Order: sequence, then structure tokens, then C-alpha cells
Amino acid sequence: MAYSSPYMLVFIFLACFVFAFSDNLVAPGDSEKVKLNLYYESLCPYCQKFITEDLVKVIDSDLLTITDLKLVPFGNAEVLDNNTITCQHGEEKCKLNAVQACAISTWPDTLLHLSFITCVEETTKDWKSCVPDPTSLKAINDCYSGDLSKKLILEYANQTLSLEPKHEYVPWVTLNGEPLYENYGDFVPLVCKAYKGKEALPEICDSSSLSRKKSKLQVSFVEDSKNY
Ligand SMILES: *[C@@H]1O[C@H](CO)[C@@H](O)[C@H](O)[C@H]1NC(C)=O
Ligand SMILES: *[C@@H]1O[C@H](CO)[C@@H](O)[C@H](O)[C@H]1NC(C)=O
Repeated sequence: MAYSSPYMLVFIFLACFVFAFSDNLVAPGDSEKVKLNLYYESLCPYCQKFITEDLVKVIDSDLLTITDLKLVPFGNAEVLDNNTITCQHGEEKCKLNAVQACAISTWPDTLLHLSFITCVEETTKDWKSCVPDPTSLKAINDCYSGDLSKKLILEYANQTLSLEPKHEYVPWVTLNGEPLYENYGDFVPLVCKAYKGKEALPEICDSSSLSRKKSKLQVSFVEDSKNY
């Protein structure tokens, strides 16, 4: 059934909220926010796991009051000399990277595009069922089938390939520009700790059980992509 994901409800709610209150969105403390960047690609199992199990906490919490979250959908894809983009595990992955890039462009608000991307990474087969209304669907389709998606992906390629130090695998998470390496799953306490601004720390920072159990590193290495 379309719209069956619980994120859709959150999404629709947020869409109404954001459109009603968009004048008030830019708070004075925005420049002090902790910069959290996720370099990932669609359909990468560990990226899916990270997005749907960990990053999703951002949607249900108040962490964005102190966090400037950027999603960069490119990952281990490659740009050929003629500016063609190729993806590990093929076309579908490139396609969903582009759809997600278009969603970020259509909904610059983090909660909106993160809700959509979470839904897509959960359902994977039918991204259109994650779009709440025909107007947005048209915007994303127009972006995807036009030159804009390619321009966006080349920009994300540039951001990914310019990383210092270079990304070694995906998901690759940086906090204020520094890679978290295998600690990416612990981004919540790390963000809370890094925040030096004037806002009160969000409630999610109070939780005593923040640090999750260390598990085996779950990533897709850059070099793996060359073997497919
Ligand atoms: C780009 O280069 C690749 C590899 O050389 C080739 O397979 C592909 O057809 C080229 N694409 C275009 C649009 O020229
Ligand atoms: C990214 O873009 C900048 C500015 O256009 C350019 O100087 C740089 O070489 C690009 N980097 C990569 C890795 O493509």
C-alpha cells in the first residue's frame, strides 16, 4: 500500500508545519550549529541501516536545534572522463542517488528531505510512494529527467572527491569536517559534545544510554566497488 510507512505521516505533518512557519526557520544561532555530513549512496546496505536505524533519530528528536545536517548522495560512485556517472551495483543505485539529490533540491528543509530519504531507503523499490503530493512528484520527476539532476550529482561528486582526508568507505560521516570513522553510529553524543553554541542542549543529549554497543564495522569500502 502506498503511504504505509510511518515516516509518511511524520513527513506530511512536517510539510504542513514547515510551510506554515517558514518565515521563522532561520534562527540566530544557526552558524554555531555542529556540522554533520553524511556521504553515502542509495541501496548500500550499511548506509540503509545507518539511515533507517540511527539517523532517523534526528527526525524524532530535537537534535537539529544544534545540528546542521547535510546529506551527500554520491558515495563510491564514479565520474568518467566524459562526465558520465557510474555506480557500484549499477543503474538503479545511480538513479536513486539522483532522485535523492532532486529531493534535497526540492525540499531544502532537512526534516522534509530526510523523511523522504528514510522512506526511500526503507522501501527502495517504489520511491514514488514516498512522495506525499503530485506537485512534489512533478518537481522531482522534472529534476530527475532534466539536466538538474546531473548538475546536482556532479556537485555531490565534487564534494565527496574533495574530502580531506579522503573517504575510505560509506557510510562516511564527518563532524565539523573531521571523519568519525567507525564511531559514526555514535554521532548523537558526539554532536552533543561538540556543540559550543548558546542554545540549551536538546533533550536527546540527556539520555544516559546514548552510546550504543560497539559492533563490527559495517561499511562498504571504496575499493570493493571496483570489483563489480
Ligand atoms: C562515456 O564513457 C564511457 C566509457 O568510456 C562510455 O561507455 C559511455 O558510452 C560514454 N558516455 C557518453 C554519453 O558519451
Ligand atoms: C570541485 O570544484 C572546484 C571548483 O569548481 C574545483 O576547483 C575542484 O577541482 C573540483 N574538485 C574535484 C575533485 O572535482
